Amino acid sequence: MKRHLISAADLTRDDAVLILDTAEEMARVADRPIKKLPTLRGRTVVNLFFEDSTRTRISFEAAAKRLSADVINFSAKGSSVSKGESLKDTALTLEAMGADAVVIRHHASGAPYRLANSGWIDGAVVNAGDGTHEHPTQALLDAFTMRRRLVGRDAGIGQDLSGRRITIVGDVLHSRVARSNVHLLTTLGAEVTLVAPPTLVPVGVENWPCEVSYDLDAVLPKSDAVMMLRVQRERMNAAFFPTEREYSRRYGLDGDRMAKMPEHAVVMHPGPMNRGMEITAEVADSDRCTAVEQVANGVSTRMAVLYLLLGGSEPAVTTARTEENN
Ligand code: NCD
Repeated sequence: MKRHLISAADLTRDDAVLILDTAEEMARVADRPIKKLPTLRGRTVVNLFFEDSTRTRISFEAAAKRLSADVINFSAKGSSVSKGESLKDTALTLEAMGADAVVIRHHASGAPYRLANSGWIDGAVVNAGDGTHEHPTQALLDAFTMRRRLVGRDAGIGQDLSGRRITIVGDVLHSRVARSNVHLLTTLGAEVTLVAPPTLVPVGVENWPCEVSYDLDAVLPKSDAVMMLRVQRERMNAAFFPTEREYSRRYGLDGDRMAKMPEHAVVMHPGPMNRGMEITAEVADSDRCTAVEQVANGVSTRMAVLYLLLGGSEPAVTTARTEENN
């Protein structure tokens, strides 16, 4: 595995399977009364968030704390960034404080790459979402959730997602989640179809390793998982569809549409959801929707990523097992 996690495309199939397997080990820790491992004691993880976040920030914090790391949470609001401090000066400050890993979310696509390749810091850089570019740990937790649901918790160990058909629906243009998922899911052997209004399909999509469709109803019966994307109004500088009602009618998932999916198929959403827009409350609250499970799986997956980047190879898993046996 590389030293940083910037893009899902940086992961080989074996890297990805190792992360998912390690995340399964970490998930066992979450089932215990004391949800903590000593693995990263004495290491410092900085969460550097320049953009709003609920799930991702809390998830990385919980993950680092469960591994016993010291965690520093930095949010641009209320910091010297609002006085105009640059990414470079912020990075040099973190380096002076001895950060072993920097988890960064930034509104500019490419900011984590810049941080990792600048020489400003020595620690590992983890991309927690950069602009409309990538969100690799979201794709990993999504793959973890799919492997558990579609292959099985124990049966999934060592396995990828070969032959599974995954449909990603909605605002693909502005979605770093979609980009990272297309890379990772195809690396794991899945067949990915994107469904979106033509205005929300990125230019150059023909070079992506996936199919594109404009007809959700036709694709649903052939899907093992359907991932609904949030309509990202904050990134829209133009009218991409006529009305919200029109969007929901053609690209939203309601109970009738969900009934067209195979019985075993799941509905996913990275959150935050626009209930009534891309997903109805009926679907969001049904047991086929994995949104809340994805959040729980996010902590185990991020524990695995931090461990593998900072801690090394097998011992974390052994530690988990050893403690279990005691
Ligand atoms: C996503 C993000 O921030 O890119 N959310 C998340 O990380 N859970 C998707 C979104 O904001 O719609």
